[in-house]
Amino acid sequence: MKIRTETIKSLKNKRAVSCLTSYDTLTAKIFDESGIDLILVGDSASNTVLGKNSTLPATLDEMIIFGSAVASSVQNSLVVIDMPFGSYELSPKQALENSIQVMKETGADAVKLEGGENRVEAIKLLIENGIPVMGHLGFTPQSVNQMGGFKVQGRGDQAEKIKLEAKALEQAGVFSIVLEMVPRDLATEITTELAIPTIGIGAGNETDGQILVWQDFAGLSEKTPKFVKQYAKLRASLTEATEQYIKEVQSREFPSSGNSFD
Ligand code: KIV
Repeated sequence: MKIRTETIKSLKNKRAVSCLTSYDTLTAKIFDESGIDLILVGDSASNTVLGKNSTLPATLDEMIIFGSAVASSVQNSLVVIDMPFGSYELSPKQALENSIQVMKETGADAVKLEGGENRVEAIKLLIENGIPVMGHLGFTPQSVNQMGGFKVQGRGDQAEKIKLEAKALEQAGVFSIVLEMVPRDLATEITTELAIPTIGIGAGNETDGQILVWQDFAGLSEKTPKFVKQYAKLRASLTEATEQYIKEVQSREFPSSGNSFD
């Protein structure tokens, strides 16, 4: 059955929400058919697919290409697209125009915006115009330069600010909030205080759901952060397969007669 933003909201206090990123048709189909609740077309594609060292270079056109590949491959999972850096910060009007383009050209179900109080007006305008929004607090990768690198957010005095921002986003109408790299206790407190689901990544085990970047989850990435658990060993398996292929091409074992036309 098709998962809607209302479905995700209704899972709060019932069962944990499972989420993965995807940027292409094959993984999107596998995750969808396996029963993932939510697929995020993250701007992490900038790192994991396009080889950049941050998410900042991701463009609207790139997100639309990845988003459309995923949305057209999925039957049930909720598909959320990251609005890339530079596509929504200038004004609520800019956020609305670009989000309309993303929704029209991808067929996705919702968009995600990074930030707190500074995004409230844009989020309200999107929601008033029929576009569901997911929030993203804690470590927000588009602000990596401002944050001084990949660092846990919300320790000490910062904790109160993140709590207030989570409440502001909830009041603005987001259906869910990603909490990235925040201390477990803070994530738990926010989760308890909000009526909407929190989705954690590096935020402990008490958030309402979990998300991982698929190449990290599947063991394809070269390096993974501490909060990642690898559920497959794709890097090792592909390396082994590639080495075997090279050997068989060089020895002319491949292609065999069964792989050839008479
Ligand atoms: O871009 C992304 O993949 C994300 C997740 C890490 C939540 O925003």
